[in-house]
Amino acid sequence: MEEKNIPKHIAIIMDGNGRWAKERGKMRIFGHVNGYKRIYPIVKHCKDIGVKYVSLYAFSSENWSRPGLEVRGIMQILKNAIKQQIKKMGEEDLRFVVSGRVDELESTYKNLIDYATETTKNNKTITLNLCFNYGGRNEIIDATKKICEKVKCGEINIEDIDSALFSKNLYHPDIPDPELMIRTAGEMRISNYLLWEIAYSELYVTDIYWPDFTPEELDKAIESYSKRERRFGGLK
Ligand code: IPE
Ligand code: IPE
Ligand code: MG
Repeated sequence: MEEKNIPKHIAIIMDGNGRWAKERGKMRIFGHVNGYKRIYPIVKHCKDIGVKYVSLYAFSSENWSRPGLEVRGIMQILKNAIKQQIKKMGEEDLRFVVSGRVDELESTYKNLIDYATETTKNNKTITLNLCFNYGGRNEIIDATKKICEKVKCGEINIEDIDSALFSKNLYHPDIPDPELMIRTAGEMRISNYLLWEIAYSELYVTDIYWPDFTPEELDKAIESYSKRERRFGGLK
């Protein structure tokens, strides 16, 4: 694959853990555990082919409406994952960041996230943006509040507000918009993911469930992306 066809930023909606488990006659949490195992190979592959940013949708602001047992199970996986992977993040020169309302999480999770973020902040080769307790609408609301505060204290004028300024007030202003957005498990919807950032992203949906998603499947998505003609509203 030619260098120029590799997206700088890939965003993934990691969906289908529950169905994957159900097909095997197992509890949903079994799907989440196996879904978690796919993260390292995919991120590693992204790094190897030169992707600079990977955003992964791991828990949405709407996922709280699931049964308590499942929510607690996902929280447990998050905790173990960060603890287990922190050393590897260093070895891979990976910067770890989280998008979402981290302040709403219990302090154990918040502290772990802060620790991993702080420990990896100078790593440069790839950024993993884990979207946890994330909602696209919440991100837009949170940016709007920041901007209103800046107007209130006279730091900016209302006339200064444009899309560039808005983007600068999102959770991670240094991360460029994703060129490619992948959703596993077949649903043709966005489910409140990166609403602002995906304005011109290329979409790729595969029927493969997330626990079955491999680097080869990722290559297929990139291959499809590389053949697209991106027009951004203009003409060829
Ligand atoms: C995605 O898998 C993971 C989360 C939303 C946390 P699902 O749990 O949504 O799996 P399906 O869609 O029910 O198969
Ligand atoms: C989106 O998947 C959220 C994550 C993958 C974390 P969902 O399974 O929650 O989305 P819906 O409910 O099918 O739209
Ligand atoms: Mg789902």
